[in-house]
Amino acid sequence: MKKILMMIPGPTPVDQSILEALGRETVSHLDPRLVETLKETLKNLKTIVMTEKGQPFTIPGTGTLAMETALVNSLKERERLLVISHGFFGDRFAEIAQSYGFEVEVLAAEWGEIVEVEKIAQKLKEKRYAALTLTHVDTSTGVCAPLKEVSEVVREFPETLFIVDGVCATGGIEERMDEWGIDVLFTANQKALGVPPGLANLVFSEKALERRNSLGKISAYYMDVNRWLPIMREPGSNYFATHAVNMVNALHQGLKIVLQEGLEERFSRHRRFALAFHQGLEALGFKVLPAPEIRANTVSTVLYPSGIEDSAFRERLFKNGLLVSAGKGVLARKIFRLGHMGNITENEVVATLSIIERTLTEFNYHFSLGSGISAAEEVLFKE
Ligand SMILES: Cc1ncc(COP(=O)(O)O)c(C=O)c1O
Repeated sequence: MKKILMMIPGPTPVDQSILEALGRETVSHLDPRLVETLKETLKNLKTIVMTEKGQPFTIPGTGTLAMETALVNSLKERERLLVISHGFFGDRFAEIAQSYGFEVEVLAAEWGEIVEVEKIAQKLKEKRYAALTLTHVDTSTGVCAPLKEVSEVVREFPETLFIVDGVCATGGIEERMDEWGIDVLFTANQKALGVPPGLANLVFSEKALERRNSLGKISAYYMDVNRWLPIMREPGSNYFATHAVNMVNALHQGLKIVLQEGLEERFSRHRRFALAFHQGLEALGFKVLPAPEIRANTVSTVLYPSGIEDSAFRERLFKNGLLVSAGKGVLARKIFRLGHMGNITENEVVATLSIIERTLTEFNYHFSLGSGISAAEEVLFKE
């Protein structure tokens, strides 16, 4: 069977050493070896999001569990939440919040654009919000929020907790939790960390933990961070729920790879690969949806040139060995989504463009063969 190059925005390709860690003997969640692994994993998670005092959690579940955990520990019923939405995953915050009876207001951008930072400032001046959510990279639109700029605004409103969804960013794009005053930052395994899906990884600031305490009893049991806190502070000391021990081993190895590469190096590699894809695809006549200054380094939303039909094109790509994702919502059939995050190399970038070029030759489409690869290589090998 042909090996498929999986360039979707998660799960991302998994390094063999991570698979080996995942496949190690299943031990007790209280086994001293697992306890050590969990301790180191939590410490490394803090390093990746650049926090000294933040409290890390890793909980069996997915990114959506992390979203819900962030909200349910930050607000009470009828408290007000401001959601900044740049697409499908921003809107999901609003849906979750509504299901808990929080008062939600959404500031949404056209898909492919961002909410202006001044509009956020204006909104926060008008009313008191218990929390604000921002999706660092909305995977549906390929838009990267101006996290630092938004953080400078939110900082002026200390009564508002700053919740950041880093699912499509953490470990691939810089996130300075302490410096930028982020209160809850979370990600899932399967994106820029390059680990198989299965763990929701969150970090709470001291302020966020104080907020949790101020809420008293909340409408959650498994998602109550106070129930996980003893295990996360002192792994092995206590039982709350049986941890996904093999997943912890895998995440541990994944985070080790991130730190071995070095954060700065990893962020700049993601920048370089994103630019290589953007230049390569544009040389072939595709367009990248967001304006260059708000394009994510982890995922691209790629508009088709005329004459190329979405499902036929993606089907052909797959036959030729490349998997990309379909557009969501209003972007369905107009774009494909290309993931370029986690543990990929220049080889995958070039191979992806090669398969795209090969596929284009199978359509009645005029372009200069090799031009995409060549434009990408200018970025990869000369810059
Ligand atoms: C930005 C963002 N947030 C949240 C999620 C939800 O994560 P999961 O699918 O792991 O529940 C995703 C999934 O793709 C995402 O891209």
